[in-house]
Amino acid sequence: MALKVENLTVYYQTTKGSVQALEDVTFSVQPGEIMGLAGESGCGKTTLCHSLIFLNPPMKYMGGRVELNGIELPIWNSEAMDKFRFRDISIIPQYAMNAMNPIRKIGLMTRELLEAKGVNYHNNLAEIKHRLDVVNLSHDVLDMYPIELSGGMKQRMVMVLSTLLNPSLLIADEITSALDVASQKAVAEMLVNFLQEGCCSSVIFITHDISILYQIANTILIM
Ligand SMILES: Nc1ncnc2c1ncn2[C@@H]1O[C@H](COP(=O)(O)OP(=O)(O)OP(=O)(O)O)[C@@H](O)[C@H]1O
Ligand SMILES: [Mg+2]
Repeated sequence: MALKVENLTVYYQTTKGSVQALEDVTFSVQPGEIMGLAGESGCGKTTLCHSLIFLNPPMKYMGGRVELNGIELPIWNSEAMDKFRFRDISIIPQYAMNAMNPIRKIGLMTRELLEAKGVNYHNNLAEIKHRLDVVNLSHDVLDMYPIELSGGMKQRMVMVLSTLLNPSLLIADEITSALDVASQKAVAEMLVNFLQEGCCSSVIFITHDISILYQIANTILIM
């Protein structure tokens, strides 16, 4: 089993009291699986996914267990989670299009991201270019600023960045919601290609759009 979540309970601690955002959440994701995660706005989808990768205040861990490939993730300890982030578990955040540093060229940003994890950029350049091909982006984007890319291009670039270290689990949070229908379909298909090429081994795909889940998901979890 790739991911096993048992009785995960996470609250938000606010000055007005606590928000019981997740209560006893239990599910699992198998290797090679795309699990669709759907549910009405505010039901806790983003909270669930953030709990698995960066559980920071005002979020508060109340209980439960998360296992990735048989290893328990110390989700309550942000520092201890550092070695898992990006390497073993990675996220394409909701509003990822705005996640790139506007004053860095994309190539430089990619290099800094890899070097922060102790990985050499130049040794991996061929693979980076291959992945740009998979998502249908020209290699020229490495020499461009994020502002020079369209929304859909930025989305695909963030997909490449999030999966550079072949994480076991990739979380895609509403990555198609801000795109037109044709780009939605293209981005969803590229995600499937990424999985098939081994750029990640399983995916949690969050969306409001059940029809996309019908096309790409192996299982669906409704919150
Ligand atoms: N920083 C915060 N402080 C307090 N409550 C929060 C905070 N962030 C989220 N919440 C609450 O937690 C609940 C779950 O929010 P979450 O963002 O996980 O929903 P979601 O399912 O991702 O919604 P959407 O589909 O709109 O993205 C909501 O009731 C929200 O008000
Ligand atoms: Mg959300």
